[in-house]
Amino acid sequence: MARRETTFICQDCGAAYGRWQGKCDACGQWNTLAEESSASLQVSARAPRKGRLFALEPLAGAGHDAPRLASGLAEFDRVTGGGFVRGSVLLLGGDPGIGKSTLLIQVAAALARHGQRTIYISGEEAVAQVRLRAERLGLAGAEVELAAETSVEDIVATLAEGVIPRLVVIDSIQTMWTDLVEAAPGTVTQVRASAQALIRFAKRSGAAVILVGHVTKDGQIAGPRVVEHMVDAVLSFEGEGSHQFRILRAVKNRFGPTDEIGVFEMSGGGLREIANPSELFLSERDLGSPGTAVFAGIEGSRPLLVEIQALVAPTSLGTPRRAVNGWDQNRLSMVLAVLESHCGVRLSGHDVYLNVAGGLRIQEPAADLAAAAALVSSLADAPLAADAVYFGEISLSGAVRPVAQAAARLKEAQKLGFARAILPESARAEAVAEAGLSLKPVSSLANLVADIAAQPTDGGQRRTKYPRQEDG
Ligand code: TYD
Ligand code: MG
Repeated sequence: MARRETTFICQDCGAAYGRWQGKCDACGQWNTLAEESSASLQVSARAPRKGRLFALEPLAGAGHDAPRLASGLAEFDRVTGGGFVRGSVLLLGGDPGIGKSTLLIQVAAALARHGQRTIYISGEEAVAQVRLRAERLGLAGAEVELAAETSVEDIVATLAEGVIPRLVVIDSIQTMWTDLVEAAPGTVTQVRASAQALIRFAKRSGAAVILVGHVTKDGQIAGPRVVEHMVDAVLSFEGEGSHQFRILRAVKNRFGPTDEIGVFEMSGGGLREIANPSELFLSERDLGSPGTAVFAGIEGSRPLLVEIQALVAPTSLGTPRRAVNGWDQNRLSMVLAVLESHCGVRLSGHDVYLNVAGGLRIQEPAADLAAAAALVSSLADAPLAADAVYFGEISLSGAVRPVAQAAARLKEAQKLGFARAILPESARAEAVAEAGLSLKPVSSLANLVADIAAQPTDGGQRRTKYPRQEDG
């Protein structure tokens, strides 16, 4: 029954091929195919058994006990949708060294403090190392039970003994292996089979399980994508090496929203929760320089103010450079095209760099207006008012379109001491309640461009004229 030939499996997405090739057709990654013998794919050849009869239940059944358990780490609970659901499995993905183990030992300790049995199983570090980290984080007294184990069968057997734990952390799924398959640890086959066994345990026992998954670029070990569809929720822990901010984002969540983010700051004492991220993201503002605009955004249910920085400089290349960090490249191209064709702003001879401060990644189209303002400000060398926030979506015709939750955006801006808001015309009605801000509705991008070009600069003098006609 078992075929002798070998199969090549993409360690990133799990696609299987009959022969080796450099690029995975399914996910487009290079050099991620690894050989795994077909025999190892077969989960032991048991004799087929007769199915067991089970009872069906009505949909309107009796309620279960408290469906969620909050960890007590508010930023973490915000992203999971209010805490751990019984029997659910959560995958936490992120680059190596980003702080996954630190976050989870903090979550485990917070939960243990509430008297819940929590277990932390490390496949990467020895117990002493985990202890050392906990000590450094000031969590040495937490009643988290530790083990350094990698055999899934041993782990499941141990967990099933005694009081069922409320939370089990498996750090990481790529180090786990099960006897059921012969493949080496870290391969797609092993990662999948191990995850399956742990998921089965979670569903059967009601314990919540968190699997850590390293995101890998080189395809040496299987990436978290191979288990994403098996788990209930996928969280990703992101951040840039050079920044101290870390952002927890839900990529998939069967039991909650996927648009919430949790914001943390790295410190010597571990991850610190940031309840008001706007303050943090605006803390390093470069006031009074051209090319920066504050965007009043919304992440999930929470308003978030962040600075958008642009640099527009004459190019020496045949094809000007367009580089963007933290925003969508296509969105930038669109804004540039609208500026060129509807506002007479000539950018074809300029390199354009756009950056979202603090390493944040923005997905909202509402950032169009702020990005455009920053771009024009840089090109015209005219600083924008430091006390203004911007939001609005730009359509291909150059009109500024309304965005959701204008009132919440303005309220946050007012709270942080901003005095004016540049917003879509149609948002004015919704925004009437926020009396503290002076509102400047714009109906088209051309209006905004004209305003920036004409505006007297606060303090600093303009060095060049706005190059609407030609800037040599
Ligand atoms: P770690 O949690 O081990 O990352 P991962 O499990 O994702 O690979 O963290 C990496 C290193 O960063 C580790 O040496 C501890 C350090 N660190 C801090 O000092 N403070 C922090 O707040 C965090 C998150 C990490
Ligand atoms: Mg780790």
